[in-house]
Amino acid sequence: MILEHEGTHTNGDSLTHEQKTGSYRKNATQSSSNQEKKSDAQCLVIHAECTEWLRRPGQDSKPIDLTFLDPPFNQGKAYTSHNDDMCEEDYWLWMKEICQLTRQKSSDGAGIYFMQREKNCEQVLRVLRESGWTYQNLIIWKKKTSAVPSSFRLGKSHQIIVFATNGRKPRVFNKLRIDPPLPAGYKPRENGMLLTDVWDDIREMTSGYFAGEEALRNPNGSRAHNQQSPIALLLRIILCSSSPGDLIFDPFAGTATTGVVSSQIGRNSICLEKDAQNFGVMTHRVSFPRASDSVNRFLKDYTHTDSLVQITGLHEGQKNRINGT
Ligand SMILES: C[S@@+](CC[C@H](N)C(=O)[O-])C[C@H]1O[C@@H](n2cnc3c(N)ncnc32)[C@H](O)[C@@H]1O
Repeated sequence: MILEHEGTHTNGDSLTHEQKTGSYRKNATQSSSNQEKKSDAQCLVIHAECTEWLRRPGQDSKPIDLTFLDPPFNQGKAYTSHNDDMCEEDYWLWMKEICQLTRQKSSDGAGIYFMQREKNCEQVLRVLRESGWTYQNLIIWKKKTSAVPSSFRLGKSHQIIVFATNGRKPRVFNKLRIDPPLPAGYKPRENGMLLTDVWDDIREMTSGYFAGEEALRNPNGSRAHNQQSPIALLLRIILCSSSPGDLIFDPFAGTATTGVVSSQIGRNSICLEKDAQNFGVMTHRVSFPRASDSVNRFLKDYTHTDSLVQITGLHEGQKNRINGT
């Protein structure tokens, strides 16, 4: 991996010039069988409050092509730099402003994927509509772990992701074909199946030990960030709604999963994070790539997708990555 930045970067424990001043830029490399090929994709991680950053004019020379919006859900979780117990009205006004400002900085047809708890579905749809986004899909991300039980309603076992666009039609929509395991008795599919709005093949990052190798951890083994999103989820969203060279934006980037995935498939990214500790975690993550963050093992899920080589931004010599090798 090649790092390109001003100032001195020594290791993950000491702050670089960019960390102190609030931003860090990294050029991605993509590895092929026996050589390192530098990609032009840049991941810019910025220590900033996203509303303030979005309000500032001229922050971006290039419009945003795709946004992943995974904000704190206002459910009283312990965040160091954020009050997760806001008055409901203020919270949704805030979300609306973020959606508005993001849309103003987005290209025509740009996409947004807004993730939330299913109980907030009505608010998410309203906020997106009132901020000018055009609804496309309500994605049901079905959890693999057991449902959250309730004594007076059905157990909850999914999260919602609303896909909307800046204008009537998306500027990019790649028709992904996936090949999930078939239930017993089903006929094998030769060409996989077109991706639908129910995603039941992506495992969530559960709490504690079972989150697996992908989870970033503190030296004592505890999770470095409890809301870290899975690589497979961002890979799907980015493959579906962007092209190599596009600019992907994440205003609540946490551990920069968006940036880590974007760089590997030739997309540029801007990741904002307000919390200093999380910013340290994300800077370390994008600077020191881990095998467990590689998208390679998930690319084979899309082998039946037309033009997979082009949409993943891989060159001919890297085709073996699609088979997870
Ligand atoms: C749900 S987490 C996102 C996790 C992320 N998808 C990942 O893969 O790590 C939301 C993040 O937003 C950050 N945050 C909260 N308020 C913020 C704000 N006003 N501006 C920027 N980041 C903020 C929190 O510190 C937290 O890391």
